[in-house]
Amino acid sequence: MAAKEALNRILLVGGGAREHAIGEALCRSQNVELFVVANNRNPGLEKLSSGNFVKRNEKDKDFIKDWALTQKINLAVIGLEDPLEVGLPDELNSIKIPTVGPISLAAQLETSKIFTRNLMRDYNIQGQVEYHYFTDANSFRKFLLSSSQDFALKPIGLTAGKGVKIMGEHFKSKGEAIDYGETVLHNTGGLIVEERLFGEEFTLQTFVDGETVLPMPLVQDFKRALEGDVGPNTGSMGSYSQSDGLLPFVTKEERDQALEIIRQVIHALRDKKILYQGILYGQFMITEKGLKLIEINARFGDPEAINVLPLLENDFVNVCRAITKGTLKSIDIHFLRKATVCKYITPPKYGYEPVQGEPIKLDTAKIESLGVRVYYAKLEKKGDLLLTTTSRSIALLGIGDSVEQAEALVEHALSQVQGNDHVRHDIATKELLQRKARGRKIPISA
Ligand code: AMP
Ligand code: GLY
Repeated sequence: MAAKEALNRILLVGGGAREHAIGEALCRSQNVELFVVANNRNPGLEKLSSGNFVKRNEKDKDFIKDWALTQKINLAVIGLEDPLEVGLPDELNSIKIPTVGPISLAAQLETSKIFTRNLMRDYNIQGQVEYHYFTDANSFRKFLLSSSQDFALKPIGLTAGKGVKIMGEHFKSKGEAIDYGETVLHNTGGLIVEERLFGEEFTLQTFVDGETVLPMPLVQDFKRALEGDVGPNTGSMGSYSQSDGLLPFVTKEERDQALEIIRQVIHALRDKKILYQGILYGQFMITEKGLKLIEINARFGDPEAINVLPLLENDFVNVCRAITKGTLKSIDIHFLRKATVCKYITPPKYGYEPVQGEPIKLDTAKIESLGVRVYYAKLEKKGDLLLTTTSRSIALLGIGDSVEQAEALVEHALSQVQGNDHVRHDIATKELLQRKARGRKIPISA
């Protein structure tokens, strides 16, 4: 008798630790066969997809569309931003494959920072930041020379979290800031200059079906390469979440306000006849001037997906289908009331000149027996060896009743890994959380 085809033939695009966590969450559902396209061989995803894995550029939409057709895919989940920018969801929708990932017009919320800022201004949405948009170097230089303020300089498009540079922080002089802005203008044609804000940042990820927006627990990630939050911005070195879904420095009211901003953004898009179906990630900052929206991503965060997906109590495939059908309203979303801590093992000198080809030795079964989950990112496998590339290598996730407990689990696991040269051990430590809570005078909960 021929084997019965799985009911859910799901295509996942992307090969980082975030996608490993997405794949794991999808495979927790019944009757799933996973298919993966990624430009790197992720050992975790190779296993989850039982070899239904194609190494290919994630932007190659013609190939992906054809492969999805031949594999009779009936649901697609897009993990990273690059295929969103080139309109892979538009292509998959055109062949009737429901897709978790916004069409390119909607994904502009991430792919064009000026689109988002203008949308917020036009619809008078809270959380706006003062900004100036430049397309020519002369007016930009004049503007900067005539002002005594510090600004954040932002390329319009995707920069993998590494393109934003802040005056007073990343530049030694105004001249350096001008040089950077001019280079961005020369290379991309557009530059946003924003007022420099100060405050703590947090991430609110949401499920969105075009109308309904359902929140996930808040996460704080740590983008700076070095302990003490210094050094260059990276894709992120790690993250944590609390069991109550808030953070030491964020009140429920502030969380609700952030959610309301995302709802208004989605409704503004709807008003423009643009349907957003996918994951929407809001990066917020609590400042003296109130809650500000720093940026939107049109996908899960990496690593923030790793904090929240293992806690999701609903069937993730059902949630994905509801996103694509516009029926999220009927879903009562629940997450386990647990704290999480994620720390990335990265190549030596990550954030500066990452060293490729360094071995990382870990006994996955042993680490898992300590209660810590292992998510593979961008590694090269040579025989039994796992070697670093220029990107992040492995994420370890601890889950506990408190952040302290989850953090201790991860640190214990890290002590078992050889080649863990570059890890931010300060992430989610008691001292760090106390410092953050003290800044806002909010009592620490679990
Ligand atoms: P983005 O890619 O827009 O999230 O920016 C990356 C990081 O730069 C943010 O997480 C902030 O830490 C910082 N940043 C962005 N915009 C501002 C701003 N207007 N003022 C101060 N810091 C900012
Ligand atoms: N953690 C930052 C990002 O995913 O963009």
